[in-house]
Amino acid sequence: MKIAIIYYSKTGKTRRLIEYVFHKLKDLGVGVDVFTVRPIREYSSRLLHLNPRTLYETLLSRNIPIKGDEGFKPETYDAVVIATPIWWGMEAPPIHSFIQKYANLIKTPIYCITTADLPIDYASKLLKTLKARGYEVRECIQVVNFEKDRGRIDAMLDKVSKA
Ligand SMILES: Cc1cc2nc3c(=O)[nH]c(=O)nc-3n(C[C@H](O)[C@H](O)[C@H](O)COP(=O)(O)O)c2cc1C
Repeated sequence: MKIAIIYYSKTGKTRRLIEYVFHKLKDLGVGVDVFTVRPIREYSSRLLHLNPRTLYETLLSRNIPIKGDEGFKPETYDAVVIATPIWWGMEAPPIHSFIQKYANLIKTPIYCITTADLPIDYASKLLKTLKARGYEVRECIQVVNFEKDRGRIDAMLDKVSKA
């Protein structure tokens, strides 16, 4: 059983969550490879919310050049976990671009995680986006508060480990 985790994180919340996910899956006896997908040209951290490039690329669903997926061979995994911060209601552009790039190339079950600040159901939106692109999505959860959401994270990882 081998799982790939694909994620982007700008301010660290998704990265910390993925560190937990990685160790939890290892504890469940799963082989895990982690791929941190980033824009070739990373967004400036300064005034991130007001950065016109961030706004433009997110809201216009731009396909941006990404790195970090070198060596990712979809056919070698039993399942793929995709995690993304939510920016203005959307998956962050590097993950949006990853989803476009690998549409019809990943045949294995997908589990996805959105991280956000507001308790809005962004996970269902991402699930629909992935399904529309032909991905076989099993489950998508939203994480706002790690401690509060931990039970749901663990429940999903239990399913991932049996994918
Ligand atoms: C540019 C930008 C836009 C955001 N838009 C939303 C949003 O629409 N809804 C929301 O709940 N959180 C929003 N957030 C908060 C992030 O989704 C949340 O803090 C996320 O967990 C950050 O992940 P990261 O630390 O891994 O980058 C936004 C954050 C940024 C920087």
